[in-house]
Amino acid sequence: MVATKKYSIIDAETGALDRRIFVDEAIYQEELEKIFGRAWQMIGHVSLVPNPNDFFHTYMGEDPVILTRDNTGQLHAFLNMCRHRGNRIVRADEGNAKNFMCTYHGWTFSNDGRLEHVPGVSEAYYDDLPVDELSLVEAKVDVYAGIVFATWDHEAPSLEAYLGDARWYLDTVFNRRDGGTVAVGPMKWLEPCNWKTPVDNCSDNYHTVVTHLSSAMAYEKYNGRPRTTHAQLFTRPHKHMFVNGHGLTVREVDDDTPRDRAGMTDENRHVFYEHHRATMPEVERRLGRRRAHEVQLTNHSLFPNGVLGFRLALPRGPLMTEFWHFAVYEKDAPEVVRHGTQKGSGQNNGAAGLFEQDDIDNWRQVSMSALSPLARRYAQDLSMGVGHATDNHPDYPGRVSERYISESNQRNFYQRWEEFMNADSWADIPLDPITADFEGAAGMNG
Ligand code: FES
Ligand SMILES: [Fe+2]
Repeated sequence: MVATKKYSIIDAETGALDRRIFVDEAIYQEELEKIFGRAWQMIGHVSLVPNPNDFFHTYMGEDPVILTRDNTGQLHAFLNMCRHRGNRIVRADEGNAKNFMCTYHGWTFSNDGRLEHVPGVSEAYYDDLPVDELSLVEAKVDVYAGIVFATWDHEAPSLEAYLGDARWYLDTVFNRRDGGTVAVGPMKWLEPCNWKTPVDNCSDNYHTVVTHLSSAMAYEKYNGRPRTTHAQLFTRPHKHMFVNGHGLTVREVDDDTPRDRAGMTDENRHVFYEHHRATMPEVERRLGRRRAHEVQLTNHSLFPNGVLGFRLALPRGPLMTEFWHFAVYEKDAPEVVRHGTQKGSGQNNGAAGLFEQDDIDNWRQVSMSALSPLARRYAQDLSMGVGHATDNHPDYPGRVSERYISESNQRNFYQRWEEFMNADSWADIPLDPITADFEGAAGMNG
């Protein structure tokens, strides 16, 4: 007998998407378990816990998580829940501590998770408490290019396999330099939309010239950056591709020009350009000639909830998302580049970012349309570019769509969602094999 799938929410042939996945409370609860309980998720950065005994408070889905570096230097991620009655044992956002004492009854855990002290263990518990079995609940942790990832599922594949060929593209931003990167943040705010909408938007370059018209006009006026027209957008040779749930868009360049980004002004642009040129031999050694010179990662998402780099769309109920925005820059970049990157990423996509402000009301309306029983009779249309993508592109790994403007990544993202939601365990979740040629010296970590 063929088992029927519980969820069939996206039609790959027509791009019809069932809107209930944005508002249904039971589906949301299942997402917390089957997606956020299983997937590798970005939770922090090594620069946020640089010293022994540092900790940083973060989240996986709705679960509060303590990222610690123990006194041997090893990283851990723990559920922030006292094993006695469930109190949160850490209330600070970050700090340095060898152990964490629960403020309810005083059970005390070391920063490697062990339950170290229980008041009255002899008198109150008759020396009968299985202390060794009451360590903090621990996630599996790994690091890619300084970004710390974790999963609750100890049967999950390696982070390297999970990222797969997406790393071939991610390296061009996060893995350029021997000295690594620094993350600053997070800036945090709430957006009244379903968490999946901003994630699928990462591959939506179709909206940019319409949604962001006023921002583009402001940039044109004050920054000298000409705005893009529809005609230019539709004829760009850029690429749109998908690997293992991760949506990627890539700029192809032939003249070695760094990507124009927020924070660059007419006055400081030359510093960004000089830095780009000066570091090119090192970048080429690390990434190979082609990735160093010709491939530039632009908008992208990491399954499930990574949005444009090390930024998180944390679920807070079906119709609420908590955004965490970090700026990531090269540790030894010139001050102008570091400051410009931090300021610019906030200017574009921070809480008061020009682009973020443009986007949020669309995301809210798209998510909320599914509250209406009438609207739910009509599917969301994600048909753009159906039948125009290939898994065997000669130059680019992943499922590459023919054109830059496509909804291929969005269809694939919702299919990936189905794969997680219909799976009983990781054994049922497919992973693409790693096929890319990782030319150069850069590895997963360093
Ligand atoms: S709940 Fe933590 S010691 Fe009781
Ligand atoms: Fe946008």
